[in-house]
Amino acid sequence: MYRYILELRHLLRSLLLLSVMTATGAQAAEKIDLIIDTDPGADDVVALLLALASPDELSVRALTTVAGNVRLDKTSRNARLAREWAGREEVPVYAGAPKPMMRTPIYAENIHGKEGLSGVTVYEPKKGLEQGNAIDYLIDTLMSARPHSITIAILGPQTNLALALIQEPGIVQGINEVVIMGGAHFNGGNITPVAEFNLFADPHAAEVVVKSGVKLTYLPLDVTHKILTSEARLKQIAALNNNASKRVGEILNEYVKGDMEHYGIPGGPVHDASVIAYLLKPELFSGRPVNVVIDSREGPTFGQTIVDWYDTLKAPKNAFWVESGDAQGFFDLLTERLARLK
Ligand code: BDR
Ligand code: CA
Repeated sequence: MYRYILELRHLLRSLLLLSVMTATGAQAAEKIDLIIDTDPGADDVVALLLALASPDELSVRALTTVAGNVRLDKTSRNARLAREWAGREEVPVYAGAPKPMMRTPIYAENIHGKEGLSGVTVYEPKKGLEQGNAIDYLIDTLMSARPHSITIAILGPQTNLALALIQEPGIVQGINEVVIMGGAHFNGGNITPVAEFNLFADPHAAEVVVKSGVKLTYLPLDVTHKILTSEARLKQIAALNNNASKRVGEILNEYVKGDMEHYGIPGGPVHDASVIAYLLKPELFSGRPVNVVIDSREGPTFGQTIVDWYDTLKAPKNAFWVESGDAQGFFDLLTERLARLK
């Protein structure tokens, strides 16, 4: 029964996003009231540019940053750079947790470089961080929000939301949905044989979030490894010939190298941008409601997402697991939106 309710909710959301037709035939879609929690990170920056180039569909309230790919000061600077590059300096950036809830911090400098962003020159952006921290911001915003009105996109370890939930469990009242890049089932892991980086970086936080009962959608490696760059796709972005397309080209050319070599694949995934594409065009993706359990026990399965894809346990469905996506549709959307930036 619960599974059908989740499926129905997913369908209703897709229908809503397909928009309400006005009398003139013009489309008037309801905007998604959005907070993006992120640890930039090359693919995070591409995700942020995609989101900030889409103001008709996404009302981005704030970016909240977390330690993950690199240290918090660097992820916070890179988030502010993405905001500046998108010409959206009115969007506040709040820095959050400098380390995971319990485990020793890990970083992904081997993938994203020492500064968390290879391929481009990083510098101190013009506009600084907002006063106050991301956890307090989440609590204040979600406590005072209309019931179930705010969507949270999480593109890194889930530490900020978990800490906010522990401090004030009542914040679930303000949450519409949490859409997460993380986890792996069919694909296997990318940091251990079974664990994906964001979950491995803070599995205890992911457990808090899944146990909170909020509506959850996961975009795991299962889908992001099906949406790969190619020469043609990078060329279509380069052809835009604006600053945004040049930066994304430089970032992606550098970022995908490691995965192409490691996995022997013809292009690389742009993981976090899939979350934003899913919010903009859910019809590009497919998945199903599942029961997911996060393993936070020390040992070889630390950080694994255990997904009951075939409903073997008949356990309550606590997440929508996105399993595949339209790769060309994703790159067409990204290209179209980057064309709107300078
Ligand atoms: C995830 O890990 C990070 O390195 C990326 O930014 C992405 O969020 C992919 O496993
Ligand atoms: Ca990330």
